[in-house]
Amino acid sequence: MCKAFIFDLDGVITDTAELHYQAWQRMADEEGYYFDREINEQLRGVSRRASLEIILNGREISEEKIADLMERKNNYYVELLSTITAADVLPGIEQFLLELNARGIKVALASASKNARPILHRLGLTPLFDAIGDGWSVNRSKPAPDVFIHAAGQVGVNADECIVVEDAEAGVDAAKEAGMKVVGIGPKERVGHADWVCADTSKLVVSQILA
Ligand code: G6P
Ligand code: MG
Repeated sequence: MCKAFIFDLDGVITDTAELHYQAWQRMADEEGYYFDREINEQLRGVSRRASLEIILNGREISEEKIADLMERKNNYYVELLSTITAADVLPGIEQFLLELNARGIKVALASASKNARPILHRLGLTPLFDAIGDGWSVNRSKPAPDVFIHAAGQVGVNADECIVVEDAEAGVDAAKEAGMKVVGIGPKERVGHADWVCADTSKLVVSQILA
C-alpha cells in the first residue's frame, strides 16, 4: 500500500534546467570553457560539483578554484531564481499534490538542490509538503538512494510504501536502489527503467498510479 509520494524538484515540480543552464553558461563564458545546451542535458539531476566536473571535461583545477566556480555559478543561479513565481509550477502538479493531501497520503520532497526550500517557497507549494529532503540533508547525491531514504524517514513511512516521481535517469536509479517504486517523467530513453512512465506532468493521475 502506498503511504507516501516523494517528489524530485527540478523537472518534476518546476523546470529550473533553463536557469541552471544560463548560470553555468555565464560562468563558463567568463572562464573560457566550452558549454552548450546539449552538455546541459547531461546535468539533469546531477549535483553542483558533478555538474562542474562535466563542464571541466577533464581539465584539472585546484580545490580552491572549484569552490570559487561553484559559488559564482550559484550566485548567478540564485539571482535568476528571483524570477520564479507560482506560474512556474509544471502542469498538473498542484492538483496532483492537493489530491494526495486530500487522500491523507504523505508528500515529501527529495531534491539534490541546496536551493530547494526557497524554490518551493517561491512556487507557493511549501504548505502542501509534509517533509523536505534537499542538498543539505545528505552527503551522497543521486544515484545514491540517501535523499529518498531520508525523506521517507522524515514522514515515517517504509521504503516499500513510497512512490517516487523523478525525471532524471540517476534519480530513477536512486529511488529503485532505495527500494521504492518510481514514476518516470519524460522519454522512455531517459526514464524507461521506471515502474510507470509519463511523457509529462500533465499526464499524472493519482488513481491510475494507485490502481
Ligand atoms: C538538481 C538539478 C541539477 C542541480 C542540482 C544541485 O538535481 O537537476 O541540475 O545541479 O539539483 O542544485 P543546486 O541548486 O544545489 O546547485
Ligand atoms: Mg529532476
